[in-house]
Amino acid sequence: MTEPPCFRLFATADIGEAAFARLRKRGYEVEVYPDPEPPPKQRIVEKVRSGIDGLITTLRDKIDAEVFAAGVGTLKCVAQYAVGVDNIDRAAANRYRVPFTHTPDVLTEATAEFAFFALADLSRRLWSAEKMVRENRWGFWHPYLPFLGDEMTGKTIAIIGAGRIGQAMAKKCSGFEMNIVLYHPSRRDEKFAAALQEVMDAQFRLALQPERTTVRYASLEVALREADYVSIHVPLIREGEGQNPTFHLFNETTLRMMKPTAYLVNTARGAVIDELALVRALQANWISGAALDVFETEPLPADSPLRDPALQDRLRLYPHFASAARRTRLSVDPNGGMAGRCIQGLIDVLEGNYGGDIQKMPLVVNKEAFR
Ligand code: GLV
Ligand code: GLV
Repeated sequence: MTEPPCFRLFATADIGEAAFARLRKRGYEVEVYPDPEPPPKQRIVEKVRSGIDGLITTLRDKIDAEVFAAGVGTLKCVAQYAVGVDNIDRAAANRYRVPFTHTPDVLTEATAEFAFFALADLSRRLWSAEKMVRENRWGFWHPYLPFLGDEMTGKTIAIIGAGRIGQAMAKKCSGFEMNIVLYHPSRRDEKFAAALQEVMDAQFRLALQPERTTVRYASLEVALREADYVSIHVPLIREGEGQNPTFHLFNETTLRMMKPTAYLVNTARGAVIDELALVRALQANWISGAALDVFETEPLPADSPLRDPALQDRLRLYPHFASAARRTRLSVDPNGGMAGRCIQGLIDVLEGNYGGDIQKMPLVVNKEAFR
């Protein structure tokens, strides 16, 4: 019998006691940053410099060249507790040859359903309606006063970014008999579109929905021009970071392509939208409303123009909350929750699972550095 591995880890956030217990049982030494706020950058750098083997990070931590440089010769893995990894400098990780992992799949359905619910809140004016009741302003029942919403059933949705979460969103929308226009900057998954079309056709054939609905791929412009609803599911890719940058993909030009009656939801990353352009779009009624779970600066600053009270009935604001469901966040099952998936990625790298072949490790993001 070989000794159990003893690796030293630092976690920048508490990802649940059960996950840490699982690591400690394997002989790992785990230090968890005790405060609910993120640690200062220098605290992370110091910890890495102290010789830890693995670092558990969240989207709140900027993991840049300084962090990787501090870990030369000792830091073996960064395990990100999120699917998005735009806070990690990939080029620096590659230069220092440190693999980093993420937590795909386990938050796909939670994020997609949240995007749908956020659109529903916006479109059917759930927030404004409840606020009216709570403020004791519900004076009478009336056919159209004080306001109406827009029903989603039967409408057209554009899904911007048809990867894992975008496809899950498409499936949910098909249940609401929506027509679906998919935009994906690179590969088109025709097999997915054909399968979903078959389900939609069956629903129509079996008289479970009155109109035939369709799903198809289109260009960004066509998708934005046709849609009653637009849902963003692309990763944040800044200029120079990849072939299809998504930074400010939604700007004055693209927001003006949308219908004045259309609604936009963003559960991806804040900087995919130029927030100042969005404020203008709402104030000038280029679009009807927006629901945002992510922002260019998080938490949302007190002086953000998105807080304009004149926009509040048409702009839903949430605290980066889409994956915030109990099982999704805390399950230690690697196929059930982000905590389980996060530590599995770490274990794969540190313990050399898959014969130590990084190319075969499903949760490693920057495989290109290890070819
Ligand atoms: C959340 O935003 C994530 O990327 O997992
Ligand atoms: C509404 O409550 C109705 O009965 O139509």
